[in-house]
Amino acid sequence: MTKLAVLVSGRGSNLQAIIDSIENGYLKAEISVVISDIAGAYALERAKKHGLNAVHIDSKRFETKESYEEEVLGVLRNNKVELVLLAGYMKIIGKTLLSSYKNRILNIHPALLPAFPGLHAQQQAFEYGVKVAGCTVHFVDEELDGGAIILQKCVEVKECDTAETLAGRILEQEHKIYPEAVKLFVENKLHLEGRKVIIG
Ligand code: GRF
Repeated sequence: MTKLAVLVSGRGSNLQAIIDSIENGYLKAEISVVISDIAGAYALERAKKHGLNAVHIDSKRFETKESYEEEVLGVLRNNKVELVLLAGYMKIIGKTLLSSYKNRILNIHPALLPAFPGLHAQQQAFEYGVKVAGCTVHFVDEELDGGAIILQKCVEVKECDTAETLAGRILEQEHKIYPEAVKLFVENKLHLEGRKVIIG
């Protein structure tokens, strides 16, 4: 079974979706470790509730991004992690992690990339006035929210929406496509051709 690490910073609803998919048998993988850079992240509570190995690594203890990521890398290696999932992890991945886990780090983003990368993507899309919003699971590379796209799901924007109601409907779709993308990865069905991901 593929060993996963989930990197988090906050409430952890996407972590929960991955946990649920494993527990209900949809996803044949195991979470070896959950790592948070934030001590009080609710995601850590969720992990503990499910008996998972949950670790807080305080980036402020480290002088450089490299030394922080070396520490994270050590935890990943100790837990024999094969695939890293970013799930609301608020740090940009640096070259230390990228080079050790090349094409083995995935992220979920609450917009239809390449539109609206970065923070508050749902609000950006709402304020721009798009009629269709959505979410994206992608490989992580050097560029912020810029790696090859694995899966996307559209969410229609309604006249009565606020940024919050729209974000809520996008989140429901995130919880579906993230486990789906991880399943494709662990079943070896994702093939990178340049920046295209061929599924099958
Ligand atoms: C999600 O909207 C995800 O797409 C983005 O950050 C948010 C994390 O939410 N990267 P949660 O912590 O998984 O609930």
